[in-house]
Amino acid sequence: MNTSKIDVLFDDYTIKNRIQTLANFINEDYSDTSDVVLLCVLKGAINFFGDLSLLLDFDAEYEFVGLTSYEGTKSTGNIKLTTVLPDIKGKNVIIVEDIVDTGRSIEYLKKLIEADASDIKVCTLLDKPSRREVIIEPDYIAFQIEDHFVVGYGLDYNQKYRNLPYVGVARFE
Ligand code: IMP
Ligand code: MG
Repeated sequence: MNTSKIDVLFDDYTIKNRIQTLANFINEDYSDTSDVVLLCVLKGAINFFGDLSLLLDFDAEYEFVGLTSYEGTKSTGNIKLTTVLPDIKGKNVIIVEDIVDTGRSIEYLKKLIEADASDIKVCTLLDKPSRREVIIEPDYIAFQIEDHFVVGYGLDYNQKYRNLPYVGVARFE
């Protein structure tokens, strides 16, 4: 399967603008909170994490966790950790994710850290609510999208297209 075309869904300007708005909400919510950890879900959230974190005006530690579930354009439903789990004992964790699709990855990650973390919130660049299989409602969402397979700005198709500076819908032929 080859992508024949990628249609721009959100350009760089639109993404940056929306992330600023999201950061404003988060700054308000966390103005009195200490021990905050931004937990980046690798690899897809890396660009969102980088842009968002620089707009937060409170002290936040960085942690990273690798999760994998997709092959091509389908979630295998078989979620695996690809890194060690960071120590987030007693921390107020903000999970930073690229996209919440079936919700299974975030459900899995939340279960892994919920006993240790003081609080867990989920912040995602993209949300595809129509594909949800478990009850997960992200606390901060940059954009809700229809059931499209998207790439760019960190998101991949078989590890490709991550470094496109926009989010685009991949059309397959
Ligand atoms: P979930 O477990 O089904 O919610 O899937 C979450 C993960 O699948 C995301 O973190 C992405 O890495 C990947 N994913 C889901 N939808 C897409 C997409 O449209 N493009 C690229 N990756 C996706
Ligand atoms: Mg991901």
